[in-house]
Amino acid sequence: MRMLDLIAKKRDGGELTEEEINFMIEGYTNGDIPDYQMSAMAMALYFQDMTTEERVALTMAMVASGDEIDLSAISGIKVDKHSTGGVGDTTTLILAPLVASVGVPVAKMSGRGLGHTGGTIDKLESISGFEVELDGDTFNRLVNENKVAVVGQSGNLTPADKKLYALRDVTATVNSIPLIASSIMSKKIASGADAIVLDVKTGSGAFMKDLEDAKALAKAMVGIGNGANRHTIAVISDMNQPLGHAIGNALEVKEAIATLKGKGPEDLTELCLTLGSHMVHLANKANSIEEAREKLESAIESGHALETFKTFIQSQGGDPSVVDDPSQLPTARVKLTVDAQQEGYVSDIVADEIGMAASMLGAGRLTKDSEIDLSVGVILKKKVGDFVKTGEELVEIHANTDTVEDVKEKIRAAYSFTKQPVEKNPLIYDVIE
Ligand code: URA
Ligand code: CA
Repeated sequence: MRMLDLIAKKRDGGELTEEEINFMIEGYTNGDIPDYQMSAMAMALYFQDMTTEERVALTMAMVASGDEIDLSAISGIKVDKHSTGGVGDTTTLILAPLVASVGVPVAKMSGRGLGHTGGTIDKLESISGFEVELDGDTFNRLVNENKVAVVGQSGNLTPADKKLYALRDVTATVNSIPLIASSIMSKKIASGADAIVLDVKTGSGAFMKDLEDAKALAKAMVGIGNGANRHTIAVISDMNQPLGHAIGNALEVKEAIATLKGKGPEDLTELCLTLGSHMVHLANKANSIEEAREKLESAIESGHALETFKTFIQSQGGDPSVVDDPSQLPTARVKLTVDAQQEGYVSDIVADEIGMAASMLGAGRLTKDSEIDLSVGVILKKKVGDFVKTGEELVEIHANTDTVEDVKEKIRAAYSFTKQPVEKNPLIYDVIE
């Protein structure tokens, strides 16, 4: 088999076989196939698209290129959740204990990564003593006992995807639905998920700004998951503003605790209940989505979800008293106000820009080795649809420096206003099964 022939076949609109895709991904991973040939293939795929069979084959070839996490020692259906883009993914912190509290095993491997804030792992480390490095046996035992454990990424997952993603980044081939879908799904499947709930964001702050594009990506991922025997569904949710109020590591932990107490922001709570209901349903812990939702709502009301969070923290070495007293979390030195410079209704808050502002304060990593400041971030005091008067507080900045003029400017630029009352977007646009 020759890569040259495969490129020509795809260029001319042909369908690659599983064997051909395996040849290509193995060869690319081990260096037999050079970047220039893979670049040409990526461009051919970009223009010619892929059938569902090809997408499944590509995904599974990338899974096979590295380690695969074996969760078979954990009983029950392991359901994973993934959100595409979005700023400050507080949902994972809430969903893990919430769905665990109704019996769904949550065996979560999470990254630090680069971004506006740290990853779930960094956020958990703002809890004193919390240990994210667990050996495999301890991890499995904790999920069996408590239904939830979160561990830092280890091993060499999907090296083919890492290499291909980096190549796509410099060859204008990132923005291809089959390539994005297989990239994301390969990572979920390699992490051991039996079933997957996807949260595909759409709007000004999302990767897929357009609803139709978001639906197409969701359908592509659902097609791959189901084609690979991992029951998969996708929720399409709004990202025309950040979710919740907090963007920052310890600030998001605080917001997660409030939400588990039933006192969280309305949109964040609703999205967690929606995603959580699908997770509970896919894990066979409820007969319908409605029943699943009722179970989650009563777990919040009864305090059981919060208890699960405490048990989870304690069993990973953390101090659970933080749940009753969140003031123990890292706190920034100063709070500063960004006030509105005009009157009107908030019509849009570009999530990426708010994320950037948090990152400028030190909440995120700019390079792999940079340190993050767990205490800093921003709290949105006004969200889409709210009316503000000139001089009223829009955002509260939590900082460890006094001069934050550039951050304030960034935040002001992220907000748009209108004179007329704003019709709010729905939070959930669609569910793709
Ligand atoms: N996120 C991924 O993990 N892969 C892509 O290709 C795009 C976004
Ligand atoms: Ca958030």
